[in-house]
Amino acid sequence: QDEMKRAVGQAAAEMIRPKLDRQSIIGVGTGSTANCFIDALAKYRDEFAGAVASSEATAARLRQHDIEVFDLNSVSQLEFYVDGADEFDPRFNLVKGGGGALTREKIVAAVAKTFICIVDESKRVDVLGRFPLPVEVIPMARSYVGRQLAALDGQPIYRDGFVTDNGNIILDLHDVEIVDPKVFERHLNNIVGVVTNGLFANRGADIILMGTPQGVETLKR
Ligand code: A5P
Repeated sequence: QDEMKRAVGQAAAEMIRPKLDRQSIIGVGTGSTANCFIDALAKYRDEFAGAVASSEATAARLRQHDIEVFDLNSVSQLEFYVDGADEFDPRFNLVKGGGGALTREKIVAAVAKTFICIVDESKRVDVLGRFPLPVEVIPMARSYVGRQLAALDGQPIYRDGFVTDNGNIILDLHDVEIVDPKVFERHLNNIVGVVTNGLFANRGADIILMGTPQGVETLKR
């Protein structure tokens, strides 16, 4: 699996490299696969301006590689956002946030023109929901949101001891079969106290680079 992650990280760096110039700023995701992308990108760091990070952890790794980290508010356009996922379905809907960085990931993805998702084949499912769906919640709303989520049939579990980069908590929603990801994403967003949920359906991936033992497959919508 590590080898597949390295391969898709390298493939994403090679895919965007011809489109970069000295002004380019790249949106960078969070997690072990995104880390492989950062390591691959570092080899070309003289060919672009820098990156916007989706988490403090990613910002630290970019800086370790001497890649400049920009504030998203100082950037008007991002050509690419590259990030992993916890699950993806045949329609390029994603579940993300296993590492708890979902809110900033969703913000950076929203700004980018093209979202390249890098995954290994173990992340592929027919219907999303096998991986518990992360929901970032304002701390004082934890019990209320938990009750609302429980009413949806799933089982919300508090990620004990975990605080997001934004100072919030995570409820992981177990045992839901997400048959209509776009509708479910909007529905969760309507619960007061929810900051973001880990469904990337209304803005899913544009390209998926999937690592397999035979090599990297490029999936396009
Ligand atoms: C981070 O919050 C997540 O959205 C990650 O993108 C996701 O958990 C994938 O991580 P791995 O690449 O480590 O599997």
